[in-house]
Amino acid sequence: MNKNYYITTPIYYPSAKPHMGHAYSSIVADFFARFKKMEGYNVFFLTGTDEHGQKIQRAAEKNNKKPLDFCNEISKTFLDLTKTLNLSNNDFIRTTEKRHHNSVQKLWSILESKGEIYLSKYSGWYSVSDEAFYLEDEIEEKNGIKLAKQSGSQVEWLEEESYFFKLSKWENKLLELYNNNENFILPKSRRNEVVSFVKSGLKDLSVSRKSFSWGVQVPTNKEHIIYVWLDALTNYISALNYPNTDDNLYRNYWPADLHMIGKDILRFHAVYWPAFLLAADLPTPKRVYGHGWILSGDEKMSKSKGNILDPIEIVNEYGLDPLRYYLLKEVSFGNDGNISKDKLISCINSDLANNFGNLCQRVLSFTEKNLSLKIPENYYFNKDDLNILNNFTNNYENLIQNINNQNINAYMNFIVENMFLANKYFNDQEPWKKKNDIKRLHTIIYTSLELIRKISILLYPVIPNSSLKALHIFNLDEKNINVDSIKDNEFLKPNLSINKIKILFNKINNDD
Ligand code: MSP
Repeated sequence: MNKNYYITTPIYYPSAKPHMGHAYSSIVADFFARFKKMEGYNVFFLTGTDEHGQKIQRAAEKNNKKPLDFCNEISKTFLDLTKTLNLSNNDFIRTTEKRHHNSVQKLWSILESKGEIYLSKYSGWYSVSDEAFYLEDEIEEKNGIKLAKQSGSQVEWLEEESYFFKLSKWENKLLELYNNNENFILPKSRRNEVVSFVKSGLKDLSVSRKSFSWGVQVPTNKEHIIYVWLDALTNYISALNYPNTDDNLYRNYWPADLHMIGKDILRFHAVYWPAFLLAADLPTPKRVYGHGWILSGDEKMSKSKGNILDPIEIVNEYGLDPLRYYLLKEVSFGNDGNISKDKLISCINSDLANNFGNLCQRVLSFTEKNLSLKIPENYYFNKDDLNILNNFTNNYENLIQNINNQNINAYMNFIVENMFLANKYFNDQEPWKKKNDIKRLHTIIYTSLELIRKISILLYPVIPNSSLKALHIFNLDEKNINVDSIKDNEFLKPNLSINKIKILFNKINNDD
């Protein structure tokens, strides 16, 4: 069985510092990367920055900086964010790196040598903000300004000599790809959008620009630079050392298991990218998931709209794990979601502090008083104990499937429900009244500890720091946790000492 798993985030434009939307894509991807690791996969998780093109060149000019100096500065803030968000990425690629440059030029040369690229002239609408070409019927006019309907960003008329990629030629092959692999594009609703876009007829795609210079040169024509999306998408293989297809990274990890992206860039990933790959005779990725947007009010959060929420401020104020928990639990995955401080505080107070944190503290102090922090040996499960413990065993396959279908919502519901049930179990069993029945007392403690262990393991991809603090109770660490072990009801070895831990989450006073 292939136990490798390759997951990517979009590479972000370093045109301004990161906002909550970027943090969201990265946290979601990290969630899957960590789960897969815990399932025993060799995970390769890639993120980075997309540094070429007119958008970046203009942003640099506006700041009176050379493009590379500007990118160095802002790309660093994205790199720093990977640390702030505790991402488990294995690499951080920048498209201004030599390794990437070589890879893009090689891909171009292959496409050109296969007759997939030809020189002609582009005339049409272009949005620098989206780095995208638009057809006449994709444009609308508001207050005398021409805008792309889909993104609302301003477009400008462009007329210049350009190389074209024969996208139209790949229409049927793309439809075949979608047909043969129903889950190539998820969620389903987005798949339908893409399929009808392709069915409506594809035009050849302009893949070079002449009027500015910030990018990778076309190897055979120094006047042209390669279209930033062809450049950017290649990051997914240049990080695996493409064109060296004998390289272990490429051999082990391509095709990618999952490109996690926002719905705004689905067309590039689900149409253009597989078409480039098919044309170059390279394998296509296994899945593209287009998640929803984090809205600010009713609008997509973006720099150009000036409505951004800074993830670093939220992390500083409330902590990282509460933010991760909130985004994964409260934003219905696949749909748009809002971030509200009230809901964030309620997640911290009720789910994290009252429910999970409190369970850990109560069970630990009870174990300390009654068993001097030793795992009980005298346990004998009854129906009530098995009922709750087996919840994990019985739902194990479902949980794995939820992850494989990117169903974060079902995964989170399972955790929330079981945190509640575990607390209820401890309350209902009233171990403090069982001092004369040692066997029962031991069994309740043992069961409660097992529940804490299982829940903490499931929480690892969601709130890794807090989960590891909780798992320290049992001397478990990142290297020796496996999700498989939640099926084991007798994982904890009798008589072993357990550790006390500090309070995991402090409640927040909502009136502050
Ligand atoms: N550079 C391109 C991607 C190239 S990938 C080969 C790009 N960059 S971006 O910085 O504009 O943002 C990319 C991604 O950030 C979006 O697809 C999405 O994943 C995330 N988000 C940006 N704003 C967002 C929200 N408001 N909400 C959620 N995610 C959004 O496009």
